[in-house]
Amino acid sequence: MPDGTQDKERAAPCAPGHVAVIMDGNGRWAQSRGRPRLFGHHAGARRVREIVEACPDLGVKYLTVFAFSTENWKRTQTEVAGLMSLFRRYITKEARALCDEGVRVRFIGDRVRLDSKLISLMDELEQMTEHNDRVHLTIAINYGSRDEVSRAIKRLAKDVATGQLSPEDVTETTLTRYLDTHVLPDPDLVIRTSGEARISNFLLWQSAYAEYEFIDTLWPDFTREVFTRLVGSYGKRERRFGAVSL
Ligand code: IPE
Ligand code: IPE
Ligand code: MG
Repeated sequence: MPDGTQDKERAAPCAPGHVAVIMDGNGRWAQSRGRPRLFGHHAGARRVREIVEACPDLGVKYLTVFAFSTENWKRTQTEVAGLMSLFRRYITKEARALCDEGVRVRFIGDRVRLDSKLISLMDELEQMTEHNDRVHLTIAINYGSRDEVSRAIKRLAKDVATGQLSPEDVTETTLTRYLDTHVLPDPDLVIRTSGEARISNFLLWQSAYAEYEFIDTLWPDFTREVFTRLVGSYGKRERRFGAVSL
Protein backbone atom coordinates (compact mmCIF):
# COMPACT_ATOMS: atom_id res chain seq x y z
CA MET A 1 0.00 0.00 0.00
CA PRO A 2 1.49 3.40 -0.97
CA ASP A 3 2.59 5.75 1.82
CA GLY A 4 -0.10 7.79 3.52
CA THR A 5 -3.09 5.86 2.21
CA GLN A 6 -3.90 4.21 5.52
CA ASP A 7 -3.76 7.54 7.35
CA LYS A 8 -6.14 9.13 4.89
CA GLU A 9 -8.51 6.18 5.23
CA ARG A 10 -8.46 6.53 9.02
CA ALA A 11 -9.11 10.25 8.65
CA ALA A 12 -12.43 9.52 6.93
CA PRO A 13 -14.38 7.36 9.42
CA CYS A 14 -17.76 8.12 7.81
CA ALA A 15 -16.62 7.31 4.33
CA PRO A 16 -18.67 4.85 2.29
CA GLY A 17 -16.26 1.93 2.07
CA HIS A 18 -18.02 0.64 -1.04
CA VAL A 19 -19.50 2.97 -3.66
CA ALA A 20 -21.39 1.54 -6.63
CA VAL A 21 -22.10 3.71 -9.67
CA ILE A 22 -24.69 3.38 -12.42
CA MET A 23 -22.82 5.32 -15.09
CA ASP A 24 -25.78 6.61 -17.11
CA GLY A 25 -26.25 9.38 -19.65
CA ASN A 26 -23.50 8.78 -22.21
CA GLY A 27 -25.97 8.63 -25.10
CA ARG A 28 -27.74 11.88 -24.18
CA TRP A 29 -24.39 13.60 -23.62
CA ALA A 30 -23.32 12.69 -27.17
CA GLN A 31 -26.69 13.45 -28.74
CA SER A 32 -26.77 16.93 -27.20
CA ARG A 33 -23.51 17.55 -29.08
CA GLY A 34 -24.89 16.16 -32.33
CA ARG A 35 -22.56 13.17 -32.10
CA PRO A 36 -23.22 9.41 -32.25
CA ARG A 37 -23.94 7.58 -29.00
CA LEU A 38 -20.60 5.80 -29.09
CA PHE A 39 -18.84 9.14 -28.83
CA GLY A 40 -20.53 9.47 -25.44
CA HIS A 41 -19.46 5.99 -24.38
CA HIS A 42 -15.83 6.82 -25.16
CA ALA A 43 -16.09 10.07 -23.19
CA GLY A 44 -17.71 8.14 -20.33
CA ALA A 45 -14.96 5.53 -20.23
CA ARG A 46 -12.37 8.30 -19.86
CA ARG A 47 -14.08 9.46 -16.63
CA VAL A 48 -13.53 6.20 -14.81
CA ARG A 49 -9.81 6.59 -14.02
CA GLU A 50 -10.30 9.99 -12.34
CA ILE A 51 -12.94 8.53 -10.03
CA VAL A 52 -10.83 5.47 -9.24
CA GLU A 53 -7.88 7.72 -8.38
CA ALA A 54 -10.03 9.83 -6.06
CA CYS A 55 -11.05 6.80 -3.98
CA PRO A 56 -8.06 6.34 -1.62
CA ASP A 57 -8.12 9.97 -0.41
CA LEU A 58 -11.87 9.71 0.24
CA GLY A 59 -11.60 6.43 2.15
CA VAL A 60 -13.46 4.51 -0.57
CA LYS A 61 -11.88 1.08 -0.73
CA TYR A 62 -14.34 -0.55 -3.15
CA LEU A 63 -15.73 1.04 -6.31
CA THR A 64 -18.14 -0.93 -8.49
CA VAL A 65 -19.23 0.46 -11.85
CA PHE A 66 -22.08 -0.67 -14.10
CA ALA A 67 -20.71 -0.75 -17.64
CA PHE A 68 -23.16 -3.01 -19.52
CA SER A 69 -26.38 -4.60 -18.33
CA THR A 70 -28.03 -7.88 -19.32
CA GLU A 71 -30.72 -5.67 -20.87
CA ASN A 72 -28.29 -3.56 -22.94
CA TRP A 73 -28.17 -6.29 -25.64
CA LYS A 74 -31.50 -4.81 -26.79
CA ARG A 75 -29.61 -1.85 -28.29
CA THR A 76 -28.62 -1.68 -31.97
CA GLN A 77 -25.96 -4.07 -33.19
CA THR A 78 -23.74 -1.04 -33.94
CA GLU A 79 -23.95 0.25 -30.38
CA VAL A 80 -23.43 -3.18 -28.79
CA ALA A 81 -20.46 -4.00 -31.04
CA GLY A 82 -19.01 -0.53 -30.39
CA LEU A 83 -19.33 -1.01 -26.64
CA MET A 84 -17.67 -4.45 -26.75
CA SER A 85 -14.83 -3.02 -28.79
CA LEU A 86 -14.56 -0.12 -26.31
CA PHE A 87 -14.27 -2.59 -23.41
CA ARG A 88 -11.46 -4.46 -25.21
CA ARG A 89 -9.63 -1.22 -25.96
CA TYR A 90 -10.19 0.15 -22.48
CA ILE A 91 -8.70 -2.92 -20.79
CA THR A 92 -5.72 -3.01 -23.16
CA LYS A 93 -5.03 0.71 -22.75
CA GLU A 94 -5.67 1.11 -19.03
CA ALA A 95 -4.24 -2.16 -17.66
CA ARG A 96 -0.74 -0.90 -16.90
CA ALA A 97 -1.87 2.36 -15.27
CA LEU A 98 -4.50 0.63 -13.12
CA CYS A 99 -1.96 -1.95 -12.00
CA ASP A 100 0.65 0.70 -11.20
CA GLU A 101 -1.94 2.67 -9.19
CA GLY A 102 -2.45 -0.35 -6.92
CA VAL A 103 -5.95 -1.05 -8.24
CA ARG A 104 -7.31 -4.56 -7.99
CA VAL A 105 -9.70 -5.12 -10.87
CA ARG A 106 -12.52 -7.66 -10.90
CA PHE A 107 -15.38 -8.26 -13.31
CA ILE A 108 -18.90 -9.36 -12.43
CA GLY A 109 -21.65 -10.49 -14.78
CA ASP A 110 -22.18 -13.51 -17.00
CA ARG A 111 -19.25 -14.01 -19.34
CA VAL A 112 -20.98 -16.63 -21.49
CA ARG A 113 -22.28 -14.11 -24.05
CA LEU A 114 -19.02 -12.14 -24.29
CA ASP A 115 -16.47 -12.72 -27.06
CA SER A 116 -13.43 -14.83 -26.27
CA LYS A 117 -10.93 -12.01 -26.84
CA LEU A 118 -12.72 -9.81 -24.29
CA ILE A 119 -12.95 -12.70 -21.81
CA SER A 120 -9.21 -13.35 -22.01
CA LEU A 121 -8.40 -9.64 -21.54
CA MET A 122 -10.66 -9.63 -18.46
CA ASP A 123 -8.96 -12.74 -17.07
CA GLU A 124 -5.49 -11.26 -17.69
CA LEU A 125 -6.34 -7.97 -15.98
CA GLU A 126 -7.79 -9.79 -12.97
CA GLN A 127 -4.65 -11.90 -12.68
CA MET A 128 -2.28 -8.98 -13.28
CA THR A 129 -3.85 -6.96 -10.44
CA GLU A 130 -4.69 -9.76 -8.01
CA HIS A 131 -2.08 -8.71 -5.45
CA ASN A 132 -3.16 -5.05 -5.41
CA ASP A 133 -5.14 -3.73 -2.48
CA ARG A 134 -5.22 0.06 -2.66
CA VAL A 135 -8.61 0.29 -4.40
CA HIS A 136 -10.83 -2.59 -5.50
CA LEU A 137 -12.48 -1.72 -8.81
CA THR A 138 -15.24 -4.04 -9.96
CA ILE A 139 -16.59 -3.61 -13.48
CA ALA A 140 -20.03 -5.05 -14.22
CA ILE A 141 -20.28 -6.30 -17.81
CA ASN A 142 -23.32 -8.27 -18.96
CA TYR A 143 -24.48 -7.94 -15.38
CA GLY A 144 -28.05 -8.04 -14.14
CA SER A 145 -29.07 -8.80 -10.58
CA ARG A 146 -31.89 -11.15 -11.50
CA ASP A 147 -29.55 -13.06 -13.80
CA GLU A 148 -26.87 -13.17 -11.10
CA VAL A 149 -29.32 -14.49 -8.49
CA SER A 150 -30.68 -17.08 -10.96
CA ARG A 151 -27.17 -18.30 -11.77
CA ALA A 152 -26.34 -18.39 -8.05
CA ILE A 153 -29.45 -20.44 -7.25
CA LYS A 154 -28.69 -22.84 -10.11
CA ARG A 155 -25.26 -23.58 -8.61
CA LEU A 156 -26.67 -23.76 -5.11
CA ALA A 157 -29.38 -26.20 -6.26
CA LYS A 158 -26.71 -28.40 -7.86
CA ASP A 159 -24.83 -28.48 -4.56
CA VAL A 160 -28.02 -29.46 -2.75
CA ALA A 161 -28.72 -32.16 -5.38
CA THR A 162 -25.24 -33.64 -4.97
CA GLY A 163 -25.47 -33.52 -1.18
CA GLN A 164 -22.74 -30.90 -0.70
CA LEU A 165 -25.24 -28.54 0.89
CA SER A 166 -28.35 -29.35 2.88
CA PRO A 167 -31.53 -27.30 2.33
CA GLU A 168 -31.50 -26.38 6.04
CA ASP A 169 -28.14 -24.66 5.51
CA VAL A 170 -29.50 -22.28 2.87
CA THR A 171 -29.42 -18.90 4.58
CA GLU A 172 -28.81 -15.32 3.44
CA THR A 173 -25.10 -15.86 4.07
CA THR A 174 -25.01 -19.08 2.05
CA LEU A 175 -26.77 -17.50 -0.92
CA THR A 176 -24.44 -14.49 -0.78
CA ARG A 177 -21.50 -16.88 -1.23
CA TYR A 178 -22.86 -17.97 -4.62
CA LEU A 179 -23.22 -14.43 -6.01
CA ASP A 180 -20.68 -12.87 -8.42
CA THR A 181 -19.98 -10.32 -5.68
CA HIS A 182 -19.18 -12.94 -3.01
CA VAL A 183 -15.81 -11.36 -2.16
CA LEU A 184 -17.14 -7.79 -1.95
CA PRO A 185 -18.79 -6.01 0.97
CA ASP A 186 -22.30 -4.67 0.33
CA PRO A 187 -22.38 -1.20 -1.26
CA ASP A 188 -22.79 1.65 1.24
CA LEU A 189 -23.64 4.24 -1.38
CA VAL A 190 -25.15 3.78 -4.85
CA ILE A 191 -24.90 6.73 -7.23
CA ARG A 192 -26.86 7.01 -10.47
CA THR A 193 -26.11 9.80 -12.90
CA SER A 194 -28.32 11.26 -15.66
CA GLY A 195 -31.47 12.09 -13.68
CA GLU A 196 -33.12 8.66 -13.84
CA ALA A 197 -34.31 7.49 -10.42
CA ARG A 198 -34.23 3.74 -10.97
CA ILE A 199 -31.96 0.81 -10.26
CA SER A 200 -32.14 -0.96 -13.65
CA ASN A 201 -31.35 -4.40 -12.20
CA PHE A 202 -28.09 -3.39 -10.49
CA LEU A 203 -26.96 -5.06 -7.23
CA LEU A 204 -30.52 -5.55 -5.97
CA TRP A 205 -29.65 -8.06 -3.26
CA GLN A 206 -26.44 -6.34 -2.22
CA SER A 207 -27.94 -2.83 -1.99
CA ALA A 208 -30.83 -3.75 0.31
CA TYR A 209 -29.57 -1.18 2.84
CA ALA A 210 -27.45 1.08 0.66
CA GLU A 211 -27.89 4.84 0.61
CA TYR A 212 -28.80 6.24 -2.83
CA GLU A 213 -27.89 9.40 -4.73
CA PHE A 214 -29.67 10.16 -8.00
CA ILE A 215 -28.05 13.14 -9.66
CA ASP A 216 -28.78 15.00 -12.90
CA THR A 217 -25.16 15.14 -14.11
CA LEU A 218 -24.58 12.99 -17.19
CA TRP A 219 -21.83 10.41 -16.68
CA PRO A 220 -19.25 12.03 -19.05
CA ASP A 221 -19.56 15.23 -16.96
CA PHE A 222 -19.07 13.40 -13.65
CA THR A 223 -15.91 14.74 -12.02
CA ARG A 224 -13.82 14.09 -8.95
CA GLU A 225 -15.43 17.20 -7.39
CA VAL A 226 -18.96 15.84 -7.83
CA PHE A 227 -17.86 12.47 -6.45
CA THR A 228 -16.20 14.14 -3.45
CA ARG A 229 -19.38 16.10 -2.70
CA LEU A 230 -21.55 12.96 -2.79
CA VAL A 231 -19.14 11.01 -0.60
CA GLY A 232 -19.13 13.96 1.82
CA SER A 233 -22.92 14.10 2.07
CA TYR A 234 -23.01 10.34 2.73
CA GLY A 235 -21.11 11.09 5.95
CA LYS A 236 -24.05 13.19 7.20
CA ARG A 237 -26.64 10.43 6.77
CA GLU A 238 -27.85 8.27 9.61
CA ARG A 239 -28.06 4.61 8.69
CA ARG A 240 -30.44 2.82 11.04
CA PHE A 241 -30.71 -0.64 9.42
CA GLY A 242 -34.20 -1.02 10.85
CA ALA A 243 -33.26 -0.02 14.38
CA VAL A 244 -34.20 3.21 16.17
CA SER A 245 -31.67 6.01 16.55
CA LEU A 246 -30.37 6.58 20.08
C1 IPE B 1 -24.95 4.42 -19.98
O1 IPE B 1 -25.29 5.43 -20.86
C2 IPE B 1 -24.01 3.41 -20.60
C3 IPE B 1 -24.64 2.13 -20.92
C4 IPE B 1 -25.84 1.76 -20.59
C5 IPE B 1 -23.85 1.19 -21.71
P1 IPE B 1 -26.53 5.31 -21.85
O2 IPE B 1 -26.04 4.74 -23.14
O3 IPE B 1 -27.64 4.55 -21.24
O4 IPE B 1 -26.92 6.81 -22.05
P2 IPE B 1 -28.39 7.40 -22.15
O5 IPE B 1 -29.14 6.96 -20.94
O6 IPE B 1 -29.00 6.85 -23.41
O7 IPE B 1 -28.20 8.87 -22.21
C1 IPE C 1 -28.20 1.10 -16.79
O1 IPE C 1 -28.43 2.11 -17.71
C2 IPE C 1 -27.07 0.24 -17.23
C3 IPE C 1 -25.74 0.86 -17.24
C4 IPE C 1 -25.45 2.05 -16.82
C5 IPE C 1 -24.70 0.03 -17.76
P1 IPE C 1 -29.55 1.98 -18.84
O2 IPE C 1 -29.52 3.24 -19.61
O3 IPE C 1 -29.36 0.72 -19.59
O4 IPE C 1 -30.87 1.85 -17.99
P2 IPE C 1 -32.39 2.14 -18.38
O5 IPE C 1 -32.64 1.40 -19.67
O6 IPE C 1 -32.53 3.61 -18.58
O7 IPE C 1 -33.18 1.64 -17.23
MG1 MG D 1 -29.21 5.11 -20.11
